[in-house]
Amino acid sequence: MKERIENEMKLEFASKATNESFARITVAAFASQLDPTIEELADIKTAVSEAVTNCIIHAYENKQGTIKINAQLKENQIIIQISDNGKGIENVDIAKEPLYTTKPNLERSGMGFTIMESFMDSMKVESIVGLGTKVTLIKTIKKQEEKEKEDEIVSLTKE
Ligand SMILES: Nc1ncnc2c1ncn2[C@@H]1O[C@H](COP(=O)(O)OP(=O)(O)OP(=O)(O)O)[C@@H](O)[C@H]1O
Ligand SMILES: [Mg+2]
Repeated sequence: MKERIENEMKLEFASKATNESFARITVAAFASQLDPTIEELADIKTAVSEAVTNCIIHAYENKQGTIKINAQLKENQIIIQISDNGKGIENVDIAKEPLYTTKPNLERSGMGFTIMESFMDSMKVESIVGLGTKVTLIKTIKKQEEKEKEDEIVSLTKE
């Protein structure tokens, strides 16, 4: 059985579109210590990608800025904080609504927060206009025994 892990990493990088894949892959590599399934890892990558893209496009509006990521592993949970010092969000509740976007002309669908919320177990958005935004994403990675149990049930129902 796996030991309980307590671990942390910090990442700071320029708000360039080319760094989106760097951030997504780095967080996924860190998260892999929890032995996630391919699906769980894909969920984390997608959520990180949405949050980082928001920093690049909305927070800094393609001007140069800094994006910070802090990720912690606590037991079988990963807690990811993605923050910027950009323009901030006036009304977070409205911004989180599906299909809400302030950039419809850039082919944005307004689904980023909705995707983060559905792919992770929880999402918190804190923002101050003129100071920046911090998104906290949490996902629990199922323990190996739970996964084996689920596989057993699936194979039993197939028979
Ligand atoms: N880091 C941020 N800084 C400033 N504003 C943000 C930030 N993240 C999101 N927003 C605001 O919240 C809105 C909703 O974000 P969301 O990611 O759900 O949709 P979108 O980015 O507009 O479209 P999509 O993600 O589907 O391409 C954005 O249009 C923008 O106004
Ligand atoms: Mg978005």
